[in-house]
Amino acid sequence: MKLWLIGTYGIVSTTTAVGGKAIEREIVDKRGLVSELPQFEGINDFAKLTFEFGGHEIRDLDKSLYYAAKFHWEKNRHFDNDIMERVREDLEKIKAKKGTALNCGTGIEEFGKIESLEKDGLSLREIANRLEEDMRKFKDDETVVINLASTEPVVKINSKYHESIEGFEEMLDEDKKEYANASMLYAYAAIKNKIPYGNFTPSVGSSLPALKQLAIENGVPHAGNDGKTGETLVKTTLAPMFLYRNLEIIGWMSYNILGDFDGKVLSHKENKESKVISKDSVLEKILGYSPYSITEIEYFPSLIDNKTAFDFIHFKGFLGTKMKFYFVWDGIDAIVAAPIVIDIARFLLFAKKKGLCGVIKEMAFFFKSPMESNVINTHEQFQMLVNWFKNNL
Ligand SMILES: NC(=O)c1ccc[n+]([C@@H]2O[C@H](COP(=O)([O-])OP(=O)(O)OC[C@H]3O[C@@H](n4cnc5c(N)ncnc54)[C@H](O)[C@@H]3O)[C@@H](O)[C@H]2O)c1
Repeated sequence: MKLWLIGTYGIVSTTTAVGGKAIEREIVDKRGLVSELPQFEGINDFAKLTFEFGGHEIRDLDKSLYYAAKFHWEKNRHFDNDIMERVREDLEKIKAKKGTALNCGTGIEEFGKIESLEKDGLSLREIANRLEEDMRKFKDDETVVINLASTEPVVKINSKYHESIEGFEEMLDEDKKEYANASMLYAYAAIKNKIPYGNFTPSVGSSLPALKQLAIENGVPHAGNDGKTGETLVKTTLAPMFLYRNLEIIGWMSYNILGDFDGKVLSHKENKESKVISKDSVLEKILGYSPYSITEIEYFPSLIDNKTAFDFIHFKGFLGTKMKFYFVWDGIDAIVAAPIVIDIARFLLFAKKKGLCGVIKEMAFFFKSPMESNVINTHEQFQMLVNWFKNNL
């Protein structure tokens, strides 16, 4: 597989690259990969576990992915250093291309010096062309683009420029930068290149109607949004239990604290909004009613990449008696995310090789806000993925 990662030097990207190369070289086993479960036997014929990486970044462009991986490792120590050192030569060869940070909000300014195409004075069309060209030079039939860049502020859909691909092209030609943002430009570049695209973030990416249209016209499969890896995974696995036992959830409080870059970006109100919407909407979709709910995400620097979620559930049972359930999720964000990134890429390649295009709704299992799917219950999502794979094999 050739993975083009947007946000190449972030902790999820670098952990994906370390893990991918370590799996390829048989330094580690395949624990954590959903696609390696017996239900998905045969996927290797469509997407082998061999890896090349490239991508777009907006900082440290003179450095390599090894430098970025080491930087994150020194703060987090999230795996055995020996694994990274054994694939060091591979990682040193990976250098990101300059991307765009257009309308990404103030959160990303925390990273230090940003180098981006719009800062070089390029027009919207020129930026789109550059992104497209970088991907074109990298791509082959095994390529997938995955968005792993920082979360962007919510985009207000503009009917003239976002509803159709013709309008979107007009936006590029008229250089209407105020209506565009980075994730939609990357998604456009991928789909123009006929490369499958996965959006691991809550940013808009390929979910614009214009880009959905382009994906159908160009025969490109795509999936998103926002990887379901931690608290929301537990929530959407646990909430169905209350449903199956006919218990009423009266209230659900989720309090998330996290550090690192992702936490820093999400401590900015406009960047956080996308994430809260993505996490908050799942209960109603599973239960069919909206319990009182509180979803908070706060920056807690010393935790670094350790994401801790405290959840409190108040529920009502037989004879109207109220009861309580508490859980604490203490996950290492990049470790739960990286294998899912590889899975998403593999299933998208499978879809492409089977001639499927447009939104792959059956990949809802991997996302907090699955595009074009109201199936949020993890158990149903898993079965849907298994059936889809079997039926298309
Ligand atoms: N479990 C998880 O870690 C998890 C789950 C769901 C979603 N996500 C999302 O995945 C994304 C990556 O998470 P992370 O922890 O690796 O964050 P991170 O901050 O470590 O990495 C983000 C990287 O993107 C780069 N970047 C920012 N804007 C960019 C742009 N416009 N173009 C190119 N590069 C850009 C940054 O420089 C940084 O290197 C975030 O949006 C996060 O919300 C993560």
